[in-house]
Amino acid sequence: MSTFLITGATGPVAGATIRLMADRGDGLLLTGRNQERLTALDIEYGTTGKVETFQADVTTAEGAQAAAAAAVERLGGLDGLVHMVGGFHAGPVFATKPDQYEELIRANFLSAVNATQAVLPHLNGGWLVYFGTPLVTEPLAGMGCYAAAKAALMAWMRSLAHEVKQRGVHANAVSMTMADTPDARRQRPHVDFDQAIDPELVARAVGFLTSDAAAGLYGSIVPVLGKFGFSTPLAAPPPRPSVLAEG
Ligand SMILES: NC(=O)c1ccc[n+]([C@@H]2O[C@H](COP(=O)([O-])OP(=O)(O)OC[C@H]3O[C@@H](n4cnc5c(N)ncnc54)[C@H](OP(=O)(O)O)[C@@H]3O)[C@@H](O)[C@H]2O)c1
Repeated sequence: MSTFLITGATGPVAGATIRLMADRGDGLLLTGRNQERLTALDIEYGTTGKVETFQADVTTAEGAQAAAAAAVERLGGLDGLVHMVGGFHAGPVFATKPDQYEELIRANFLSAVNATQAVLPHLNGGWLVYFGTPLVTEPLAGMGCYAAAKAALMAWMRSLAHEVKQRGVHANAVSMTMADTPDARRQRPHVDFDQAIDPELVARAVGFLTSDAAAGLYGSIVPVLGKFGFSTPLAAPPPRPSVLAEG
């Protein structure tokens, strides 16, 4: 059994990951600021000493330190961090205020720095997992603020991976496109969710990145994009199935 701090466990993507890790016997401390969501997670997954919740804001160093200390105390140690805290904003540069940039940098990047600094002293080898987006390498119009915050996180994670690998700590990330969740479907009724990603598939990648199956990975960004693909009217359409069948 391994033990993990899952930060941002209150988000819509986390449920499937919590289920997969709890089912394989991991000890988990689930954190977030939203006590109502934490209570719901407790009801669904809670077992004393095995899967517990803890209210913490890991965008502050104090909150992150408290979360890591609680994980060690309640689970008897720590083998890793699954850092799911994130924020999103879409909008053109001229309409995106500086405080929006600060908010996204805090939510996506500084939260990861705080959580990692809090967890690392407790690890004797282990696993660190972060979450990115394909917009890091293909930053589309109106996505600069979000893409920049996630790009900072990915660059930092890759540097961190070099720093901690000699201690047997594996830092890696999942790059995912839009998650197919009930909330996302409600908020975006015009989007084709055939290209969105089922959180269950994200969970399987996190399961991989927190297991010996990923023993050779340090600083990898694993794309879990489902059928998503960037497209532009200037590019040729994908070949028709009949063309593919003809070879
Ligand atoms: N959902 C997607 O389509 C998608 C796509 C690509 C990448 N990702 C990334 O995958 C991870 C998990 O996705 P998700 O949709 O479940 O995450 P999310 O809802 O965006 O964030 C997870 C949790 O982070 C906390 N949080 C959000 N904004 C914050 C802020 N400004 N300051 C501090 N905490 C904040 C919230 O918890 P509390 O309010 O309880 O603290 C939230 O429940 C995130 O890193 C996300 O960026 C998601």
